[in-house]
Amino acid sequence: MDISYFLIILYILLAIIIAFSLIFLFFSLQAIITILRTKVPFARTPDENIEKILAELKKQNIPANSLIYDLGCGDGRILFTAERHGYRAIGYELSLFQYLKGLIKKKLKRSKVEIIRKNFMEENLGDADVIFTFLVGKVMPQIGEKLRSNLKRDATVISYGFTIPDWPINKILNTKPSLTYIYRT
Ligand SMILES: C[S@@+](CC[C@H](N)C(=O)[O-])C[C@H]1O[C@@H](n2cnc3c(N)ncnc32)[C@H](O)[C@@H]1O
Repeated sequence: MDISYFLIILYILLAIIIAFSLIFLFFSLQAIITILRTKVPFARTPDENIEKILAELKKQNIPANSLIYDLGCGDGRILFTAERHGYRAIGYELSLFQYLKGLIKKKLKRSKVEIIRKNFMEENLGDADVIFTFLVGKVMPQIGEKLRSNLKRDATVISYGFTIPDWPINKILNTKPSLTYIYRT
């Protein structure tokens, strides 16, 4: 092979490797900044638990078309499952990678869920019928305050893995590896 062809291929390969490394670095830095800002790393609620939680909503007679928010929705998995069960769903997510992944999934599924890249602590959640959260213990006291002042009466709050301090628990779902706590405002 001509040496100049070889060099061109080498440069193209190098450019691709550098581009991917820069993209990886950008998303990693963005993820670190999001965690520093929110104090909450990304983790998934296991699929079987999402189904269990939605079955519980049906059991509690929360009607189809009710509005569910996932506070810190990751790539929107809970929103898409809620929509499949007939609910309207809105999610807030600050991580750029998870947010973009959610938007791509939404497009592919032709879904009507809303995924918003904003801090849910600064948003009005007053129209929520159901709130879902999977955050960390450290932020639950602030979540409790925010929801207490912002939610309408008779809204359902579901927290996977972590209790909301000083809120009376309405029901505990035996999900694994963590329990799911259900509250009523
Ligand atoms: C543990 S993950 C849960 C993801 C998804 N809800 C699930 O259960 O599979 C928590 C997500 O909340 C996001 N998050 C935390 N605090 C937030 C805030 N104040 N506003 C928006 N997103 C937030 C994080 O970026 C993270 O992706």
